[in-house]
Amino acid sequence: MSTAMLSVQGLGMQFGGLKALSDVTMEVRKGEFVGVIGPNGAGKTTFFHAISGVHVPTSGTVRIDGRELRGQSPDAFCRAGVARTFQTPRIFGDMTVLDNVRFAFLFGNQGGRQGGDASLIDKVIDETHLDGLRGEIAGALPPARQRQLEIAMALATAPRLLLLDEVAAGLTEGEVEDVARLIARLRDTYGLTVVWIEHAVRTLMKTVDRVAVLNFGQLLADGTPAEIAANPKVISAYLGDEVAE
Ligand SMILES: Nc1ncnc2c1ncn2[C@@H]1O[C@H](COP(=O)(O)OP(=O)(O)OP(=O)(O)O)[C@@H](O)[C@H]1O
Ligand SMILES: [Mg+2]
Repeated sequence: MSTAMLSVQGLGMQFGGLKALSDVTMEVRKGEFVGVIGPNGAGKTTFFHAISGVHVPTSGTVRIDGRELRGQSPDAFCRAGVARTFQTPRIFGDMTVLDNVRFAFLFGNQGGRQGGDASLIDKVIDETHLDGLRGEIAGALPPARQRQLEIAMALATAPRLLLLDEVAAGLTEGEVEDVARLIARLRDTYGLTVVWIEHAVRTLMKTVDRVAVLNFGQLLADGTPAEIAANPKVISAYLGDEVAE
């Protein structure tokens, strides 16, 4: 039996009196591409924090490829093969593109997990279409390029599970399509399992295999894009507004 790449059970995250996540149970199979959607404040980013070691969930379990990692550090999640981007880009604005990717590579390579194969740095720069921009100062790049750089930095840690938190936010419609194509291609090239949070539902639904919907910290629905698009609960909680926009 093949283990799921990600398996969470009864995941809860409480901030004081606020339940940002309650009793979320879901699995992501190896190689799967899953979209996560839901209204602002639904708990999507909190979900990523809880499955990447940023927050220790208040309850529940977090298994990465069968291994229980709840309570471990972001570094331990990284070593287990989890990489993520942040809703607010976390690049080093005063460093070059190359140095940003190099830094991410070194972070991921602590303990020699990648066997120190530095050719990965050039490979991910090429594959995220940043070749030719290696010497540019990251903070001076346009938003779409900075997003590509974030993805490159995540890839430079040699992940197996890639978590993307609104990597297409603030981009033009055409750029959103480009990012979607890029992610899909990277998934194939690196054999990644991908979870992608995005409000651009139209593009997301065309790209992913499966969609999970969070609402008020709960998993409202989980299914194929077609099932989710036709789900009355999802339409009234979220999709009605998004599609109208
Ligand atoms: N560190 C924190 N302390 C207290 N409350 C928090 C914290 N982080 C998140 N929250 C709250 O938890 C809820 C879920 O927030 P979260 O950022 O996960 O939502 P989201 O689905 O990512 O929203 P968006 O689509 O706007 O990014 C919100 O009510 C938020 O204010
Ligand atoms: Mg968020």
